[in-house]
Amino acid sequence: MESGRAARPALEGRRILLGITGSIAAYKAAVLCRLLKTAGAEVRVVMTPLAKQFITPLTMATLSKNPILVEFFDPENGAWNSHISLGEWADCLLIAPATANTLAKMRGGVADNLLLTTYLSARCPVVVAPAMDLDMYAHAATQENLRTLAGRGVEIVEPADGELASGLVGKGRMAEPEEIVAFLDALFSRTGKKKTLQGKRFVVTAGATIEAIDPVRYITNHSTGKMGYAIAGELARRGAEVELVSGRTALPTPAGVTRRDVLSADEMFEAAATAFDKADGAVMCAAVADYTPAEVSGTKLKKGEGDLCLPLRRTRDIAAHLGARKGSRMLVGFALETDHEEANAEAKLVKKNFDFVVLNSLRDAGAGFRGDTNKVTLIDRTNREELPLMSKNDVAVRIVDKIETLLAGR
Ligand code: C5P
Repeated sequence: MESGRAARPALEGRRILLGITGSIAAYKAAVLCRLLKTAGAEVRVVMTPLAKQFITPLTMATLSKNPILVEFFDPENGAWNSHISLGEWADCLLIAPATANTLAKMRGGVADNLLLTTYLSARCPVVVAPAMDLDMYAHAATQENLRTLAGRGVEIVEPADGELASGLVGKGRMAEPEEIVAFLDALFSRTGKKKTLQGKRFVVTAGATIEAIDPVRYITNHSTGKMGYAIAGELARRGAEVELVSGRTALPTPAGVTRRDVLSADEMFEAAATAFDKADGAVMCAAVADYTPAEVSGTKLKKGEGDLCLPLRRTRDIAAHLGARKGSRMLVGFALETDHEEANAEAKLVKKNFDFVVLNSLRDAGAGFRGDTNKVTLIDRTNREELPLMSKNDVAVRIVDKIETLLAGR
């Protein structure tokens, strides 16, 4: 076994498609490739035409032990380099170094070289390690491009502060190869579970519902949808087919997930019930309104002198409806409580026929709405597991782990 290999177990056997663009930092791609190979990863390399001016295909072919791809086809024999099969092959597309030009093209969907067409068709996680001069990096256009790409799920290995090829000193230096490898290792440890849920279908409800009062006003709540989106993404990463029935959120759709947008509790009920018919399970993460205006005014309600009383009617409980019909399907629910947390959660477990319930208490700092962290307790009929404060992505991993354990025990 080569040294360093055991230190990066999550990279062992992973297929990394390394994209190299035309930056002076391309020389570091050689070390990067070497480290990835040492960690047990398979590496294939796609270079932009300009990248060849900075590092030779011969170097990269020798280190990766694979031929280098640059053009759409081989001009000698016409053999086609399929960007689609490259994207399918890869467990991760790593673009290092990523120039300002390539980041801008990625944002805009430009497809004028093999690396960009591969990016556009890849379904695997995409990681970029930007490298450029400090002013180019700080420019509003570059920053906006990075923010947009991050919002679409592209992972960014931040450049470092330091001496740049121009002689200037500032932020823009590509992260060191060791750091990039550590970033990938952490990414795979977090998200790179094997496709253990292939062939399973799940419905996930997420986000807040919106109950119209009149054409202008509505009733809603503080849910951002982050927890449900993280669960949908984690189920998809493990190979499940996921239908995400989503209230209004500002979040991008997780990779590999089919999203169905709804507004009201009634719309969410119909969409979730229909999807559940064909599913193996559902995770009910949405913050569904319990009450909705008894009537929606067709015109804007005018203010009068006195107070206004708005009659509300109960909405249907989607989780309880699915629970009553679930048969052998898996049903997971949430309980967001402010008092008598465990007793309330256990009552929901029984009443809604959940397999387990995820309890979060608004009394715990860092739990519940808005933030990127959560502190939950997983409660089933026989066990209760209190988890520490962790990111919502990590909570999603633990919830899906429990789904898998329960499925395996059936
Ligand atoms: O009863 P309570 O609203 O606290 O229950 C929370 C659980 O039930 C969550 O899993 C939530 O998504 C689900 N629920 C639902 N439909 C409703 C109300 C809650 O699916 N109308």
